[in-house]
Amino acid sequence: MRIYIARDYKDLSRKAANIISAQVIMKPDCVLGLATGSSPIGAYKQLVEWYEKGDLDFSEVRTVNLDEYKGLTGDNKESYRYFMNTNLFDHVNIDKANTNVPNGMAKNTEAECRRYNELIRSLGGIDLQLLGIGRNGHIGFNEPEEAFEKETHVVALTQSTIEANSRLFDDPDDVPRYALTMGIKSIMQARRVLLIASGEDKADAIHKSLFGPVTPHVPASILQMHNNLTVVADKAALSSCGKELEDAANKEGFYVDL
Ligand code: GLP
Repeated sequence: MRIYIARDYKDLSRKAANIISAQVIMKPDCVLGLATGSSPIGAYKQLVEWYEKGDLDFSEVRTVNLDEYKGLTGDNKESYRYFMNTNLFDHVNIDKANTNVPNGMAKNTEAECRRYNELIRSLGGIDLQLLGIGRNGHIGFNEPEEAFEKETHVVALTQSTIEANSRLFDDPDDVPRYALTMGIKSIMQARRVLLIASGEDKADAIHKSLFGPVTPHVPASILQMHNNLTVVADKAALSSCGKELEDAANKEGFYVDL
């Protein structure tokens, strides 16, 4: 596990964008696993800037997003498809046909989940999976559970997630109660994982996920088992990890950029 400590959100966004752009430069037709939420917005902005300067080319890049709300169409401004279009895809030279988000409007959600699993397989798996983290340690929409869900599935959102995400909706009652999400196995099969976290309200989730026991009650804790995990977090998000970070800096298998 490599941990990079960012000064602030701007620094975090730049570091994350650097890692993503390195992937695009090294493998122009790479498969990027993408995430939504507030955390990656700054990194997407930075990627757009570098694209505009002529430093990045997305023409061959393929993408798969982690999740989508059930019942929202792609043109609903709260949907994750809309988020991806407006924050990234509309501003770079990516072929929209190569961008994938689960279909929240699918009548048969089970079939849609199977289609999404097949799609990830047919793309040859994910080269780099970008992840944010929920306050309860969720990744994608893999909520705390008794067991890790493996592949794409439908999930009932927890109250904590509904509340946290209601800030993005005009009316909090509009937050969908269900979502489709890639499962833990699909995430863990990505060749490289980049986890980003910003702000004090993520400190507990980050502490438990990086240094606590690996448990489905903290879904992101499974990332400790990934052999190519990079974490970029700001000081606030790492504020509960002080001692563990110092210890980790001297441990095999860790690189901490203190
Ligand atoms: C949502 C998304 C997650 C995201 C999380 C945290 O629930 N499904 O992929 O990581 O929110 O979002 P934020 O970055 O806004 O805190």
